[in-house]
Amino acid sequence: MDMYRIQGGTPLSGEVPISGAKNAALPIIVASLLADGETVLKNVPDLKDIRTILQVIECLGANYNFDTAKNTLRIRVSTIRNAEVPYDLVKTMRASVYVMGPLLARVGEADVSLPGGCAIGERPVDIHLSGFEAMGTEVTLEHGYIKARAKTLAAAEFKMRQVSVGATANIMMAAVLAKGKTVLENCAMEPDVVDLGNFLTKMGAKITGLGTERIEIEGVKKLQPVTYSVIPDRIEAGTYLIAGAATKGEVKITGAAPEHVASCMASLADMGFTIDSGRDWVSVAPGKNLKGTIIKTMPYPGFPTDLQAPVMALSTIVPGINVIIETIFENRFTHVGELRRMGADITIEGNVVIVKGVGGLMSAPIMMSDLRAGAALVVAALTAKGETEIRRIYHCDRGYERMAEKLTALGARIERVKGGGA
Ligand code: EPZ
Repeated sequence: MDMYRIQGGTPLSGEVPISGAKNAALPIIVASLLADGETVLKNVPDLKDIRTILQVIECLGANYNFDTAKNTLRIRVSTIRNAEVPYDLVKTMRASVYVMGPLLARVGEADVSLPGGCAIGERPVDIHLSGFEAMGTEVTLEHGYIKARAKTLAAAEFKMRQVSVGATANIMMAAVLAKGKTVLENCAMEPDVVDLGNFLTKMGAKITGLGTERIEIEGVKKLQPVTYSVIPDRIEAGTYLIAGAATKGEVKITGAAPEHVASCMASLADMGFTIDSGRDWVSVAPGKNLKGTIIKTMPYPGFPTDLQAPVMALSTIVPGINVIIETIFENRFTHVGELRRMGADITIEGNVVIVKGVGGLMSAPIMMSDLRAGAALVVAALTAKGETEIRRIYHCDRGYERMAEKLTALGARIERVKGGGA
Protein backbone atom coordinates (compact mmCIF):
# COMPACT_ATOMS: atom_id res chain seq x y z
CA MET A 1 0.00 0.00 0.00
CA ASP A 2 1.21 3.51 -0.83
CA MET A 3 1.89 6.19 1.76
CA TYR A 4 2.48 9.94 1.77
CA ARG A 5 5.73 11.38 3.04
CA ILE A 6 5.23 15.07 3.82
CA GLN A 7 7.81 17.66 4.90
CA GLY A 8 5.67 20.21 6.70
CA GLY A 9 6.11 23.88 7.28
CA THR A 10 6.03 25.29 3.76
CA PRO A 11 3.22 27.82 3.17
CA LEU A 12 1.14 26.73 0.20
CA SER A 13 1.06 29.29 -2.56
CA GLY A 14 -0.66 29.59 -5.94
CA GLU A 15 -3.76 28.41 -7.74
CA VAL A 16 -5.41 25.01 -7.61
CA PRO A 17 -8.11 23.87 -10.05
CA ILE A 18 -11.11 22.18 -8.46
CA SER A 19 -12.29 18.85 -9.89
CA GLY A 20 -15.84 17.70 -10.51
CA ALA A 21 -17.89 16.80 -7.43
CA LYS A 22 -17.63 13.15 -6.43
CA ASN A 23 -20.93 13.20 -4.54
CA ALA A 24 -22.77 14.72 -7.51
CA ALA A 25 -21.10 12.47 -10.09
CA LEU A 26 -21.98 9.24 -8.22
CA PRO A 27 -25.80 9.55 -8.39
CA ILE A 28 -25.63 11.14 -11.85
CA ILE A 29 -23.70 8.14 -13.21
CA VAL A 30 -26.31 5.84 -11.72
CA ALA A 31 -29.16 7.99 -13.08
CA SER A 32 -27.84 7.37 -16.60
CA LEU A 33 -29.44 3.90 -16.20
CA LEU A 34 -32.81 5.63 -16.49
CA ALA A 35 -32.49 6.15 -20.27
CA ASP A 36 -31.48 3.91 -23.16
CA GLY A 37 -28.71 5.27 -25.37
CA GLU A 38 -25.48 7.15 -24.76
CA THR A 39 -25.07 9.60 -21.88
CA VAL A 40 -22.00 11.85 -21.97
CA LEU A 41 -20.79 13.24 -18.64
CA LYS A 42 -18.13 15.92 -18.44
CA ASN A 43 -16.06 17.08 -15.47
CA VAL A 44 -16.16 13.61 -13.89
CA PRO A 45 -13.29 13.23 -11.41
CA ASP A 46 -10.98 10.25 -11.81
CA LEU A 47 -11.41 8.69 -8.36
CA LYS A 48 -11.59 5.26 -6.82
CA ASP A 49 -15.25 5.75 -5.84
CA ILE A 50 -16.10 6.65 -9.44
CA ARG A 51 -14.38 3.45 -10.62
CA THR A 52 -16.44 1.48 -8.11
CA ILE A 53 -19.78 2.94 -9.23
CA LEU A 54 -18.77 2.23 -12.84
CA GLN A 55 -18.24 -1.42 -11.89
CA VAL A 56 -21.70 -1.36 -10.31
CA ILE A 57 -23.49 -0.06 -13.42
CA GLU A 58 -21.43 -2.40 -15.59
CA CYS A 59 -22.63 -5.38 -13.59
CA LEU A 60 -26.20 -4.21 -14.26
CA GLY A 61 -25.63 -4.15 -18.02
CA ALA A 62 -24.24 -0.71 -18.92
CA ASN A 63 -21.01 -0.14 -20.91
CA TYR A 64 -18.74 2.81 -20.47
CA ASN A 65 -15.65 4.57 -21.69
CA PHE A 66 -13.89 6.94 -19.29
CA ASP A 67 -11.44 9.35 -20.91
CA THR A 68 -9.63 10.37 -17.73
CA ALA A 69 -7.38 12.90 -19.52
CA LYS A 70 -10.53 14.84 -20.46
CA ASN A 71 -12.61 13.77 -17.43
CA THR A 72 -15.28 12.71 -19.90
CA LEU A 73 -17.35 9.63 -19.32
CA ARG A 74 -19.55 7.96 -21.94
CA ILE A 75 -22.13 5.51 -20.67
CA ARG A 76 -24.18 3.29 -22.97
CA VAL A 77 -27.33 1.63 -21.74
CA SER A 78 -29.46 -0.72 -23.87
CA THR A 79 -30.94 -3.34 -21.57
CA ILE A 80 -30.70 -3.77 -17.84
CA ARG A 81 -29.72 -7.42 -17.71
CA ASN A 82 -29.31 -7.81 -13.96
CA ALA A 83 -30.88 -6.16 -10.92
CA GLU A 84 -28.51 -7.39 -8.22
CA VAL A 85 -25.53 -5.57 -6.74
CA PRO A 86 -23.28 -7.99 -4.84
CA TYR A 87 -21.86 -7.52 -1.35
CA ASP A 88 -18.30 -7.06 -2.66
CA LEU A 89 -19.24 -3.82 -4.39
CA VAL A 90 -21.56 -2.41 -1.70
CA LYS A 91 -19.06 -3.08 1.06
CA THR A 92 -16.46 -1.08 -0.90
CA MET A 93 -18.82 1.85 -1.31
CA ARG A 94 -22.17 2.51 0.33
CA ALA A 95 -23.26 4.82 -2.49
CA SER A 96 -23.91 1.61 -4.46
CA VAL A 97 -27.41 1.68 -2.89
CA TYR A 98 -28.13 4.54 -5.32
CA VAL A 99 -28.94 1.93 -7.97
CA MET A 100 -32.15 1.03 -6.14
CA GLY A 101 -34.07 4.08 -7.37
CA PRO A 102 -33.26 3.67 -11.08
CA LEU A 103 -33.64 -0.14 -10.96
CA LEU A 104 -37.09 0.10 -9.35
CA ALA A 105 -38.09 2.73 -11.88
CA ARG A 106 -36.93 0.70 -14.88
CA VAL A 107 -37.37 -2.96 -14.03
CA GLY A 108 -39.43 -2.91 -10.82
CA GLU A 109 -36.90 -4.83 -8.79
CA ALA A 110 -33.58 -4.36 -7.04
CA ASP A 111 -31.46 -6.70 -4.93
CA VAL A 112 -28.74 -4.81 -3.14
CA SER A 113 -26.55 -6.03 -0.34
CA LEU A 114 -27.47 -4.14 2.85
CA PRO A 115 -24.53 -1.86 3.69
CA GLY A 116 -23.01 -2.60 7.09
CA GLY A 117 -21.65 -0.04 9.53
CA CYS A 118 -18.74 2.09 8.40
CA ALA A 119 -15.87 4.11 9.84
CA ILE A 120 -18.01 7.21 10.43
CA GLY A 121 -21.01 5.57 12.06
CA GLU A 122 -23.91 3.21 11.68
CA ARG A 123 -25.38 4.90 8.59
CA PRO A 124 -28.67 3.06 8.06
CA VAL A 125 -30.65 3.25 4.80
CA ASP A 126 -34.12 3.04 6.36
CA ILE A 127 -35.25 6.40 4.93
CA HIS A 128 -34.45 5.26 1.36
CA LEU A 129 -36.46 2.08 1.98
CA SER A 130 -39.45 3.83 3.62
CA GLY A 131 -39.60 6.14 0.60
CA PHE A 132 -39.70 3.18 -1.80
CA GLU A 133 -42.34 1.47 0.37
CA ALA A 134 -44.46 4.63 0.26
CA MET A 135 -44.29 4.25 -3.54
CA GLY A 136 -45.74 0.74 -3.39
CA THR A 137 -42.54 -1.27 -3.21
CA GLU A 138 -42.32 -4.39 -1.12
CA VAL A 139 -39.03 -4.49 0.74
CA THR A 140 -37.64 -7.54 2.52
CA LEU A 141 -34.26 -8.43 3.95
CA GLU A 142 -32.91 -11.86 2.98
CA HIS A 143 -29.45 -13.18 3.78
CA GLY A 144 -27.96 -9.71 4.06
CA TYR A 145 -29.62 -8.47 0.86
CA ILE A 146 -32.36 -5.87 0.52
CA LYS A 147 -34.90 -7.27 -1.93
CA ALA A 148 -37.20 -4.62 -3.34
CA ARG A 149 -40.11 -5.43 -5.66
CA ALA A 150 -42.56 -2.98 -7.23
CA LYS A 151 -45.26 -4.16 -9.64
CA THR A 152 -46.02 -0.56 -10.52
CA LEU A 153 -44.10 2.24 -8.94
CA ALA A 154 -46.72 4.72 -7.76
CA ALA A 155 -46.18 8.38 -6.93
CA ALA A 156 -46.43 9.20 -3.22
CA GLU A 157 -46.28 11.96 -0.64
CA PHE A 158 -43.35 11.22 1.62
CA LYS A 159 -41.74 13.20 4.44
CA MET A 160 -38.24 12.11 5.37
CA ARG A 161 -37.83 11.73 9.16
CA GLN A 162 -34.37 13.27 8.87
CA VAL A 163 -32.63 15.21 6.10
CA SER A 164 -30.74 12.67 4.01
CA VAL A 165 -28.70 13.40 0.88
CA GLY A 166 -28.77 9.78 -0.25
CA ALA A 167 -32.47 9.16 0.39
CA THR A 168 -33.50 12.39 -1.37
CA ALA A 169 -31.43 11.45 -4.43
CA ASN A 170 -32.49 7.80 -4.48
CA ILE A 171 -36.23 8.44 -4.12
CA MET A 172 -36.04 11.25 -6.68
CA MET A 173 -34.49 8.81 -9.20
CA ALA A 174 -37.33 6.36 -8.62
CA ALA A 175 -40.04 9.02 -8.83
CA VAL A 176 -39.06 10.48 -12.22
CA LEU A 177 -40.58 7.46 -14.01
CA ALA A 178 -43.35 6.68 -11.48
CA LYS A 179 -47.01 7.20 -12.30
CA GLY A 180 -48.34 10.53 -10.97
CA LYS A 181 -46.94 13.33 -8.81
CA THR A 182 -44.53 12.55 -5.96
CA VAL A 183 -44.13 15.12 -3.21
CA LEU A 184 -41.01 14.82 -1.04
CA GLU A 185 -40.66 16.81 2.16
CA ASN A 186 -37.70 17.53 4.44
CA CYS A 187 -35.43 17.10 1.40
CA ALA A 188 -31.68 17.60 1.35
CA MET A 189 -30.72 20.91 -0.30
CA GLU A 190 -27.09 19.94 -1.00
CA PRO A 191 -25.73 21.16 -4.37
CA ASP A 192 -25.06 17.49 -5.24
CA VAL A 193 -28.80 16.73 -5.02
CA VAL A 194 -29.62 19.84 -7.06
CA ASP A 195 -27.07 18.79 -9.70
CA LEU A 196 -28.67 15.35 -9.95
CA GLY A 197 -32.07 17.05 -10.28
CA ASN A 198 -30.78 19.32 -13.04
CA PHE A 199 -29.35 16.30 -14.87
CA LEU A 200 -32.69 14.46 -14.60
CA THR A 201 -34.52 17.58 -15.77
CA LYS A 202 -32.25 17.78 -18.82
CA MET A 203 -33.17 14.13 -19.52
CA GLY A 204 -36.84 15.14 -19.58
CA ALA A 205 -37.91 14.69 -15.94
CA LYS A 206 -40.43 17.13 -14.48
CA ILE A 207 -39.04 18.33 -11.15
CA THR A 208 -39.75 21.51 -9.18
CA GLY A 209 -38.42 22.73 -5.84
CA LEU A 210 -34.79 21.60 -6.22
CA GLY A 211 -32.64 23.23 -3.54
CA THR A 212 -35.64 23.62 -1.22
CA GLU A 213 -37.12 21.39 1.48
CA ARG A 214 -40.01 20.33 -0.76
CA ILE A 215 -39.46 18.68 -4.13
CA GLU A 216 -42.29 17.77 -6.49
CA ILE A 217 -41.79 15.26 -9.27
CA GLU A 218 -44.34 14.60 -11.99
CA GLY A 219 -43.55 11.17 -13.39
CA VAL A 220 -42.91 10.90 -17.14
CA LYS A 221 -43.02 7.80 -19.38
CA LYS A 222 -39.50 7.97 -20.76
CA LEU A 223 -36.23 9.87 -20.35
CA GLN A 224 -33.61 10.70 -23.00
CA PRO A 225 -29.84 10.35 -22.66
CA VAL A 226 -28.06 13.73 -22.59
CA THR A 227 -24.67 15.43 -22.34
CA TYR A 228 -24.09 17.06 -18.94
CA SER A 229 -21.26 18.65 -16.97
CA VAL A 230 -20.90 17.87 -13.24
CA ILE A 231 -20.56 20.78 -10.74
CA PRO A 232 -17.24 21.52 -9.00
CA ASP A 233 -16.49 19.66 -5.77
CA ARG A 234 -17.23 21.93 -2.79
CA ILE A 235 -15.54 19.60 -0.30
CA GLU A 236 -12.32 19.47 -2.30
CA ALA A 237 -12.57 23.27 -2.63
CA GLY A 238 -12.98 23.70 1.13
CA THR A 239 -10.13 21.29 1.84
CA TYR A 240 -7.64 23.32 -0.25
CA LEU A 241 -8.81 26.58 1.35
CA ILE A 242 -8.31 25.03 4.78
CA ALA A 243 -4.88 23.67 3.79
CA GLY A 244 -3.89 27.13 2.52
CA ALA A 245 -5.02 28.73 5.78
CA ALA A 246 -3.33 26.09 7.96
CA THR A 247 0.04 26.57 6.25
CA LYS A 248 -0.30 30.38 6.47
CA GLY A 249 -0.16 30.43 2.71
CA GLU A 250 -1.97 32.23 -0.08
CA VAL A 251 -4.10 29.84 -2.08
CA LYS A 252 -6.65 30.54 -4.79
CA ILE A 253 -9.06 27.79 -5.79
CA THR A 254 -10.24 28.12 -9.39
CA GLY A 255 -13.08 26.58 -11.41
CA ALA A 256 -15.07 26.50 -8.17
CA ALA A 257 -18.61 27.50 -7.15
CA PRO A 258 -18.04 30.06 -4.34
CA GLU A 259 -21.71 29.98 -3.26
CA HIS A 260 -21.32 26.27 -2.44
CA VAL A 261 -18.43 26.95 -0.02
CA ALA A 262 -20.01 29.97 1.67
CA SER A 263 -20.19 28.32 5.13
CA CYS A 264 -16.53 27.31 4.97
CA MET A 265 -15.53 30.81 3.82
CA ALA A 266 -17.51 32.31 6.72
CA SER A 267 -15.82 30.04 9.30
CA LEU A 268 -12.34 30.83 7.97
CA ALA A 269 -13.18 34.56 8.04
CA ASP A 270 -14.44 34.13 11.64
CA MET A 271 -11.08 32.66 12.58
CA GLY A 272 -9.48 35.79 11.14
CA PHE A 273 -8.22 34.58 7.74
CA THR A 274 -8.51 36.89 4.76
CA ILE A 275 -11.02 35.54 2.26
CA ASP A 276 -11.83 36.94 -1.16
CA SER A 277 -13.90 35.55 -4.02
CA GLY A 278 -15.03 36.16 -7.58
CA ARG A 279 -17.33 34.42 -10.05
CA ASP A 280 -15.57 31.05 -9.97
CA TRP A 281 -12.71 31.47 -7.52
CA VAL A 282 -12.03 31.91 -3.81
CA SER A 283 -8.76 32.91 -2.17
CA VAL A 284 -7.45 32.59 1.35
CA ALA A 285 -4.54 34.47 2.91
CA PRO A 286 -3.21 34.87 6.45
CA GLY A 287 -5.02 37.28 8.77
CA LYS A 288 -3.73 39.48 11.58
CA ASN A 289 -5.66 38.39 14.66
CA LEU A 290 -6.45 34.71 14.43
CA LYS A 291 -8.84 33.35 17.03
CA GLY A 292 -10.94 30.29 17.78
CA THR A 293 -14.54 29.96 16.66
CA ILE A 294 -17.57 27.68 16.95
CA ILE A 295 -18.39 25.35 14.08
CA LYS A 296 -21.48 23.15 13.98
CA THR A 297 -21.98 20.71 11.13
CA MET A 298 -25.44 20.92 9.59
CA PRO A 299 -27.21 19.91 6.38
CA TYR A 300 -26.56 22.37 3.52
CA PRO A 301 -26.33 25.38 3.58
CA GLY A 302 -24.76 24.75 7.01
CA PHE A 303 -21.15 23.76 7.58
CA PRO A 304 -20.58 20.36 5.88
CA THR A 305 -19.73 17.33 7.99
CA ASP A 306 -17.28 16.39 5.23
CA LEU A 307 -15.13 19.41 6.19
CA GLN A 308 -15.34 18.82 9.95
CA ALA A 309 -12.12 16.79 10.10
CA PRO A 310 -10.04 19.11 7.87
CA VAL A 311 -11.21 22.22 9.77
CA MET A 312 -10.36 20.49 13.05
CA ALA A 313 -6.80 19.99 11.80
CA LEU A 314 -6.65 23.71 11.06
CA SER A 315 -8.14 24.69 14.41
CA THR A 316 -5.39 22.83 16.30
CA ILE A 317 -2.99 25.63 15.40
CA VAL A 318 -5.36 28.62 15.63
CA PRO A 319 -4.82 30.47 18.94
CA GLY A 320 -7.61 30.19 21.53
CA ILE A 321 -10.48 27.77 21.89
CA ASN A 322 -12.35 26.20 18.98
CA VAL A 323 -15.59 24.34 19.53
CA ILE A 324 -16.64 21.85 16.87
CA ILE A 325 -20.04 20.18 17.07
CA GLU A 326 -20.80 17.20 14.82
CA THR A 327 -24.54 16.78 14.32
CA ILE A 328 -24.68 14.55 11.20
CA PHE A 329 -22.69 11.41 12.03
CA GLU A 330 -22.25 9.92 15.50
CA ASN A 331 -18.72 8.61 15.13
CA ARG A 332 -16.82 10.95 12.91
CA PHE A 333 -13.84 11.66 15.17
CA THR A 334 -11.35 8.94 14.22
CA HIS A 335 -8.85 11.64 13.21
CA VAL A 336 -8.71 12.99 16.77
CA GLY A 337 -6.37 10.28 18.07
CA GLU A 338 -3.96 10.83 15.19
CA LEU A 339 -4.03 14.64 15.62
CA ARG A 340 -3.28 14.19 19.33
CA ARG A 341 -0.25 12.12 18.41
CA MET A 342 0.95 15.17 16.50
CA GLY A 343 0.63 17.33 19.62
CA ALA A 344 -2.93 18.66 19.24
CA ASP A 345 -4.88 19.51 22.40
CA ILE A 346 -8.34 18.05 21.79
CA THR A 347 -11.10 16.97 24.19
CA ILE A 348 -14.21 15.09 23.08
CA GLU A 349 -17.47 15.29 25.04
CA GLY A 350 -20.20 13.42 23.20
CA ASN A 351 -20.54 15.09 19.82
CA VAL A 352 -18.72 18.24 20.97
CA VAL A 353 -15.00 18.67 20.46
CA ILE A 354 -12.96 21.34 22.21
CA VAL A 355 -9.71 22.21 20.50
CA LYS A 356 -7.18 24.39 22.29
CA GLY A 357 -4.88 25.98 19.75
CA VAL A 358 -1.23 25.00 20.16
CA GLY A 359 1.66 26.87 18.56
CA GLY A 360 2.22 24.15 15.97
CA LEU A 361 2.04 20.42 15.39
CA MET A 362 4.92 17.99 15.24
CA SER A 363 5.43 15.15 12.80
CA ALA A 364 4.50 11.57 13.74
CA PRO A 365 3.74 8.36 11.90
CA ILE A 366 -0.02 8.43 11.35
CA MET A 367 -2.76 6.52 9.55
CA MET A 368 -5.94 7.46 7.66
CA SER A 369 -9.21 5.88 8.80
CA ASP A 370 -11.61 7.38 6.24
CA LEU A 371 -11.61 9.83 3.37
CA ARG A 372 -12.11 13.15 5.17
CA ALA A 373 -10.17 12.07 8.27
CA GLY A 374 -7.39 11.38 5.76
CA ALA A 375 -7.65 14.89 4.32
CA ALA A 376 -7.38 16.26 7.88
CA LEU A 377 -4.14 14.36 8.43
CA VAL A 378 -2.70 15.72 5.19
CA VAL A 379 -3.57 19.27 6.33
CA ALA A 380 -1.99 18.58 9.73
CA ALA A 381 1.17 17.11 8.18
CA LEU A 382 1.55 20.12 5.86
CA THR A 383 1.68 22.41 8.91
CA ALA A 384 3.79 20.18 11.14
CA LYS A 385 7.51 20.53 11.80
CA GLY A 386 9.48 17.65 10.32
CA GLU A 387 8.64 14.69 8.15
CA THR A 388 5.29 12.94 8.56
CA GLU A 389 4.51 9.57 7.05
CA ILE A 390 0.81 8.91 6.46
CA ARG A 391 -0.36 5.37 5.83
CA ARG A 392 -3.57 3.99 4.28
CA ILE A 393 -3.78 6.83 1.77
CA TYR A 394 -6.14 4.76 -0.36
CA HIS A 395 -8.85 6.53 1.65
CA CYS A 396 -7.91 9.87 0.06
CA ASP A 397 -7.76 8.25 -3.39
CA ARG A 398 -11.50 7.67 -3.03
CA GLY A 399 -12.32 11.35 -3.09
CA TYR A 400 -9.42 13.68 -3.95
CA GLU A 401 -8.30 13.70 -7.57
CA ARG A 402 -4.50 13.89 -8.02
CA MET A 403 -4.09 15.18 -4.47
CA ALA A 404 -0.29 14.92 -4.24
CA GLU A 405 0.10 16.51 -7.69
CA LYS A 406 -2.17 19.43 -6.83
CA LEU A 407 -0.41 20.03 -3.50
CA THR A 408 3.02 19.81 -5.15
CA ALA A 409 1.92 22.50 -7.63
CA LEU A 410 1.13 24.68 -4.58
CA GLY A 411 4.67 24.18 -3.28
CA ALA A 412 4.00 21.40 -0.78
CA ARG A 413 6.75 18.87 -0.19
CA ILE A 414 4.71 15.71 -0.53
CA GLU A 415 5.81 12.42 -1.98
CA ARG A 416 3.71 9.36 -2.74
CA VAL A 417 5.78 6.37 -1.74
CA LYS A 418 4.79 3.22 -3.63
CA GLY A 419 4.29 0.20 -1.41
CA GLY A 420 5.21 2.39 1.54
CA GLY A 421 3.54 0.50 4.35
CA ALA A 422 0.23 -1.04 5.32
C1 EPZ B 1 -23.77 11.78 1.77
O1 EPZ B 1 -23.86 10.54 2.47
C2 EPZ B 1 -22.33 11.89 1.31
N1 EPZ B 1 -22.02 10.76 0.46
C3 EPZ B 1 -21.40 11.91 2.51
O2 EPZ B 1 -20.08 12.13 2.04
C4 EPZ B 1 -21.79 13.08 3.42
O3 EPZ B 1 -21.00 13.04 4.58
C5 EPZ B 1 -23.27 12.97 3.80
O4 EPZ B 1 -24.09 12.88 2.60
C6 EPZ B 1 -23.78 14.16 4.61
O5 EPZ B 1 -23.58 15.33 3.90
C7 EPZ B 1 -22.40 10.78 -0.81
O6 EPZ B 1 -22.99 11.73 -1.31
C8 EPZ B 1 -22.02 9.62 -1.65
P1 EPZ B 1 -27.10 11.19 4.58
P2 EPZ B 1 -25.28 9.94 2.82
O7 EPZ B 1 -28.07 10.18 4.10
O8 EPZ B 1 -26.22 10.23 1.71
C9 EPZ B 1 -28.76 9.31 8.65
C10 EPZ B 1 -17.78 11.71 1.84
O9 EPZ B 1 -16.81 11.75 2.63
N2 EPZ B 1 -29.57 8.41 7.79
O10 EPZ B 1 -27.35 12.62 4.26
O11 EPZ B 1 -25.07 8.54 3.21
C11 EPZ B 1 -27.27 9.02 8.51
O12 EPZ B 1 -26.86 7.93 9.31
C12 EPZ B 1 -19.10 11.10 2.24
O13 EPZ B 1 -17.71 12.13 0.67
C13 EPZ B 1 -30.46 7.52 8.37
O14 EPZ B 1 -30.58 7.44 9.60
O15 EPZ B 1 -25.64 10.79 4.09
C14 EPZ B 1 -26.68 10.35 8.92
O16 EPZ B 1 -26.64 10.42 10.30
C15 EPZ B 1 -19.06 10.47 3.59
N3 EPZ B 1 -31.20 6.71 7.56
C16 EPZ B 1 -27.71 11.37 8.38
O17 EPZ B 1 -28.92 10.63 8.20
C17 EPZ B 1 -31.12 6.78 6.20
O18 EPZ B 1 -31.82 6.03 5.50
C18 EPZ B 1 -27.34 12.03 7.06
O19 EPZ B 1 -26.93 11.04 6.14
C19 EPZ B 1 -30.22 7.70 5.61
C20 EPZ B 1 -29.46 8.52 6.43
